[in-house]
Amino acid sequence: MTQFDQLTTKRSGDVITSLLSDKDLIVASNRQPYAHTYEQTDGQRQIVVEEPAGGLTAGLDPVVQQTDGTWIAWGDGDADAAVTDEAGRVRVPPSDPGYTLQRLWLSDDEVDNYYYGYSNQVLWPLCHGFLANLRLIDQFWEQYCHVNTTFADAVADQAADDSLIWFQDYHLALAPRRVRSQVSENQFLMQFWHIPWPTWDTFRVCPHYDTLLNGLLANDLLGFHTERDCAQFLSCAAAGLDDATVDWPRSRIHYDGQWAVVRAFPMGVDASQITRLSGSPDARTFWQRFTNDHGIASDTAIVLGVDRLDYTKGIIKRLDALEYFWETHPEWREQMTYIQKASESRSKIPAYQAVQEEVTTAIERINRRFGTADWQPIIYTDDMLSRAAMAGLYHQSDVALVSSLRDGMNLVAKEYVAAQGDHPGVLMLSEFTGAHDQLGTHAVTINPYDTEGVVEMISTALTMPAAERRTRMRQLREHVESADLYAWMNTIFQTAQTLQDTEPTSLPDGTERLLSH
Ligand code: G6P
Repeated sequence: MTQFDQLTTKRSGDVITSLLSDKDLIVASNRQPYAHTYEQTDGQRQIVVEEPAGGLTAGLDPVVQQTDGTWIAWGDGDADAAVTDEAGRVRVPPSDPGYTLQRLWLSDDEVDNYYYGYSNQVLWPLCHGFLANLRLIDQFWEQYCHVNTTFADAVADQAADDSLIWFQDYHLALAPRRVRSQVSENQFLMQFWHIPWPTWDTFRVCPHYDTLLNGLLANDLLGFHTERDCAQFLSCAAAGLDDATVDWPRSRIHYDGQWAVVRAFPMGVDASQITRLSGSPDARTFWQRFTNDHGIASDTAIVLGVDRLDYTKGIIKRLDALEYFWETHPEWREQMTYIQKASESRSKIPAYQAVQEEVTTAIERINRRFGTADWQPIIYTDDMLSRAAMAGLYHQSDVALVSSLRDGMNLVAKEYVAAQGDHPGVLMLSEFTGAHDQLGTHAVTINPYDTEGVVEMISTALTMPAAERRTRMRQLREHVESADLYAWMNTIFQTAQTLQDTEPTSLPDGTERLLSH
């Protein structure tokens, strides 16, 4: 049974199938689901395919296959152009082609200003509330507008009469408006914003706020992870656009002749796959090798952190808390090891270089301070790990420490839960993650800014009785399994279908603008 068969039979019933069977699905995202790269093997240069790594790309892949749809994305692999046709198209998955990946070629200047610039030095810090990291540079904005136009034109070129067009994330805030101007009313446009949406007081700092809102409000459906994000978006539209009419009770906005419905869809993970992998031979082999390589004794308690090296993840604050923990709880020296699995990210940006340096420095300091001949307090790895290895790492860890200072969702928390088995660990979860809205009751809640509080909670987690761990983890698993990635997609597609069937596209007569203010 393929992943999609399972999805349609077990999870979503007929909904996705019936919605998508007669539809042409177009997905547009900055990141592509497959990258072709050159690899040197035995002195020979070969092209290899990098499989989808993230949960979303892996999860959406079978859905796009089912519809034989199109996925439009930045072709950033060094061998991407070698395998596409003149229009930048290639059939994927490479092993069993089922849909078209339309690659867009971006120049270095475009990448620097649209991706490293506006997307990640304006929108990312703005939406996460890190205004000190905001860099407002005209060229960033110019290229963001330009690349959004490139994406939009590719989408419009591809769109059929009844296309369902799904934009992903903050890289493409302006594209929907341009697509809207080029396609028929039948086309349904939707967008999922994977990062937080800020308050109006924060958002208004951005000089382009009205253009960004104008772009996003060309969608028929706009999704966020949490109700809080939705409410903040509605507030921003009400305050930032004179011509917007906000229908608070129905969580929708009328603007430029159409309604945009705003809904929370908390994203999930492919829980059944992670659970299966966590008990696989590959997961066990990985862990045996890892503990051997790093000299981890079998009775050592393991605390785990898994992060992209991003300042929003609170890694430095977490390391501070760990240092203070070993300082104030000497009984845990040589008894507990912290593993930091990190992935390098957006390294051209100074704020990201600073995180990398600070993390390395802090780990070296802590290891020097507390390390002994037989024990290294912190083990750091930035190796690329297979999904099975990751599941094994989660499974073997007694505690997962998620300390984001702000996070749209945080799927690491959900992956950790899905990978637990008979001896479940404890999830320590920052209250500033979207995931906390769903998992907070049964996780150990932390405020990552409160170092002493985190230290106390590390102690609580490490000494929690097995019965309590099991009870908490059972509740967490029930949630993570039922609200998984497929349930998330199903709800989105179902909402899209309902809206297409019922939602008026224009403001009904007599609706007062008073609604908005
Ligand atoms: C976040 C964003 C994604 C992004 C990912 C990795 O989760 O919401 O859109 O793909 O980070 O970041 P990167 O810049 O490497 O794509």
